[in-house]
Amino acid sequence: MISKPKGTYDVLPDEVKSWTKLESTIRKLCQIYNYKEIRTPIFESGKVFHRDVNDTSDMVTKETYDFKDRSDRDMTLRPEGTAGVVRAFIENKLYVSAPVSKLFYIGPMFRYERPQKGRTRQFSQFGVEALGSNSPYMDAEVISLGTSLIKALGIRGVKVKINTIGDKETRDRYRQALVEYFNQYKDELCSDCLNRLEKNPLRILDCKIDRDKEFFKNAPKIKDYLTPASVSHFEAVIEALKSMKIDYEIEDNLVRGLDYYSHTVFELEADIPEFGAQNVLGGGGRYDTLVKDMDGPDTPGVGMGFGFDRLLLACSLAGKNLNSKDYLHVYFIALGEEARKAVISQMNVCRIGGLFCDMDYLGRGLKSQFKSADANNAMFTCILGDDELKNFKINIKNNETEEQETISLYDVYPYVLNKLNSKSVCAGCKEKEVK
Ligand code: HAM
Repeated sequence: MISKPKGTYDVLPDEVKSWTKLESTIRKLCQIYNYKEIRTPIFESGKVFHRDVNDTSDMVTKETYDFKDRSDRDMTLRPEGTAGVVRAFIENKLYVSAPVSKLFYIGPMFRYERPQKGRTRQFSQFGVEALGSNSPYMDAEVISLGTSLIKALGIRGVKVKINTIGDKETRDRYRQALVEYFNQYKDELCSDCLNRLEKNPLRILDCKIDRDKEFFKNAPKIKDYLTPASVSHFEAVIEALKSMKIDYEIEDNLVRGLDYYSHTVFELEADIPEFGAQNVLGGGGRYDTLVKDMDGPDTPGVGMGFGFDRLLLACSLAGKNLNSKDYLHVYFIALGEEARKAVISQMNVCRIGGLFCDMDYLGRGLKSQFKSADANNAMFTCILGDDELKNFKINIKNNETEEQETISLYDVYPYVLNKLNSKSVCAGCKEKEVK
């Protein structure tokens, strides 16, 4: 038997509904916030992600799926959405048609990570990117979209953790302070952090191995190195969050795992015990130099990404079932070859009219066909045997009321439509109305 690759999963028909429901909640929310959908390739030229030799993020250095195509070009399966969206923004000159591009995407990402609960090698992400404005209110808008999503899904116990890593001048000064500080503890740093100390000391703060060590507590804090411009940007973000009544916690050591950020960085963390280590539902931040670094015009940006799986897990732990049950309007039961032929044609009429229908294709007995009607959650069951067929009649049963009538074989569609429109079936069940 061939199995799925490690760290991947199948979304089976029973679970797909919760995925599409989540997608439609996201699409609705993005419409409310005026973000437009963008779809970019799942693989990109390797350069899109491997831009900077000094990039020390795990995602770029250890986790990308890199391969050569048949023409020996370096390709990478996208590990995240931001860089691909920025590539598309530059290549399609989206900055010409609008001063600000507010974009969102939903799709699979790939990271060669150690799989565990809430962390897989292929996962789906929802992300937004707002390109073109350096306003702190844009940062606040993105965070507000994130908290609105959490609210719309009915997930409780989610905290917004926020920090600033300032502008370039801030980070240059802070970097120097970190190098001086951590140089004293070189012997105690893990091998990754020794490398970070040389290339990007800021990322030491994000180290899962070293961050609990005693000397970490006294490491310099970025807030003491912020330039006045960085302070005022961050203060304005915080003021905007307050004005929108969004709760937040400032977390001094939050730097995020990707190298492109500047100024605001944030994460939405689930304080849900069952969640375990992978409790960050989403995160993001500002990236004011990424577009320029990718050879585009000097354009600021801010965005955020959410893992689908973690959102769905949080929903189910919160008792929110996004998985509404499938149903049919009509299940056709036919007894005998002639009846089957007649049913095929009447079912087709119903389907053209938009009713959800199915029938038995296995030539099974009455009992099994009734079982299938039940399993398919059919509102009506039509039963056609030889006797009815001779008189061009068909029996139709309302599965909710158990009432049964005999009607003209050719009247199934208008009969069901009439019942649905008069709402004499499944009162209050809007989902089952014919669209
Ligand atoms: P990220 O923090 O790497 O940021 O990922 C965002 C979210 O994707 C995480 O909070 C998590 O929910 C989910 N995620 C990441 N890796 C995995 C995994 N292996 N398995 C399951 N879920 C995962 C970014 O990707 C940035 N591009 C976000 C951003 C957009 N920043 C600015 N714009």
